[in-house]
Amino acid sequence: MKAKLTYSKNFTVGKIDPRIYGSFVEHLGRCVYGGIYEPTHPTADENGFRRDVLELVRELGTPIVRYPGGNFVSGYNWEDGTGPRDKRPVRTELAWHTLETNEVGIDDFAGWAKKAGVEIMQAVNLGTRGPQEAKDLVEYCNFPGGTELSDRRRANGHEEPFGVKVWCLGNEMDGPWQTGAKKPVEYARIAREAAKLMKWLDPSIELVACGSSNMWMPTFGEWEATVLDETFDMVDYISLHSYYANRDKNMPKFLASSVAMDKFIKSVVAICDYIAAKKHSSKKIMLSFDEWNVWYHSDEATAEIPMWSIAPPQLEDVYDFADALVVGSFLTTLMNNCDRVKMACIAQLVNVIAPIMTRNGGGAWRQTIFHPFALSARYGRGETLRPALDCPTYDVDGDAVPYLEAAGVLNEEAKELTIFAVNRSIDEPLELEINLENIDATLFERILVGHDSFDATNTETDPDNVAPVTTSTSEPTVGGKLSVTLEPHSYNVLRFKI
Ligand code: AHR
Repeated sequence: MKAKLTYSKNFTVGKIDPRIYGSFVEHLGRCVYGGIYEPTHPTADENGFRRDVLELVRELGTPIVRYPGGNFVSGYNWEDGTGPRDKRPVRTELAWHTLETNEVGIDDFAGWAKKAGVEIMQAVNLGTRGPQEAKDLVEYCNFPGGTELSDRRRANGHEEPFGVKVWCLGNEMDGPWQTGAKKPVEYARIAREAAKLMKWLDPSIELVACGSSNMWMPTFGEWEATVLDETFDMVDYISLHSYYANRDKNMPKFLASSVAMDKFIKSVVAICDYIAAKKHSSKKIMLSFDEWNVWYHSDEATAEIPMWSIAPPQLEDVYDFADALVVGSFLTTLMNNCDRVKMACIAQLVNVIAPIMTRNGGGAWRQTIFHPFALSARYGRGETLRPALDCPTYDVDGDAVPYLEAAGVLNEEAKELTIFAVNRSIDEPLELEINLENIDATLFERILVGHDSFDATNTETDPDNVAPVTTSTSEPTVGGKLSVTLEPHSYNVLRFKI
């Protein structure tokens, strides 16, 4: 099979905001307890955080982490997680039917984030609470001192404000499963009033309004339009969430999942621009795709967990090689939409539908999906080039899906061009002709994530079953052209010096 991909330096989509490589830590299952935090673990630091996990988080390269939920946040009292640990209350947690010990809260997480070198994207509870508590949390985190709340933070060991810049106005408020779910107009009003107070307190913050929980929600579209109509001048982003699955074991269809992600993004952009047009405004609401991933492997195991457990193994998907290909193509989709998608979070970071897995008291390892993520976060920096693709396609539910999914990123500073490419064909190699206009380039490194079996996984005892293989080369373009062969069902990173 043959395909042709053309890039010109003069045609770009836009500059990639590195925050598209964000991640997510929710008080859910073993993400916090047994994930980032395990005070009895041999690698635990003085604050109880696992050093082995911290190292993998740094290697993953995520620059921003959403916290503390997710569904969890909609019933959460942030004050419960502050102050002396032995005085913190144990609470029933209604989103996931567990007990929350509150051993970790905002002070602890801010300390962890500093060590991990990540920015915090903080969500506020607009389910059971409202504008006052949201404003209070901004004050606790960002006000320098001299007020009861900011002095409470200082007394809790943080003299300097956390300086949290990005705030999510609730989580999936359209979902009937959400604690304190709302109708579009109810959420729009509370989000506006919370936004007002939060920005009055700290005008430097950026706000993310809740979009639909996914594009198949019955109120999708109407929800975004109503929320943005009300909050347009107060917010900077609208959120998108989506999880993908291969429940009917249809591999060609599953490998095309990023087509649905792309459609979702373009639909939400259209709604944002419709509201802007209606308001005669040139403001562009940007997108925060702050929950995305593959999620389905753990459904049955999670359903069997007894209620009111503490940090049980919920949502522990063990990812396979097929998932790595799909996650790789989600990342190229985010890069190709970087003019509007400014933030995105793979959900989640550790154990819970996550690129990093741990065993309590044991090891920490990289799941298959870790690799395309880490490679994208490391090399997907710069400007996305606008692709011209000539490629055979296959049909998925009426969509013509190209066998090649690719993104080209030009990094002028590092003098590099990187092409991320997934060959979706199950059994055919793809001969790819790359045409570079106005770019003198030499291919110097090829990184391949490949495997014979779509079912291959990484485990504690076999952690590198699916792992990148790097090959050095020196292949200059001739007359702006270079041909490469991409193995069937493979994820590839092609690094050029320019
Ligand atoms: O990431 C797991 C859950 O998925 C989150 O808590 C929620 O926001 C979404 O439904």
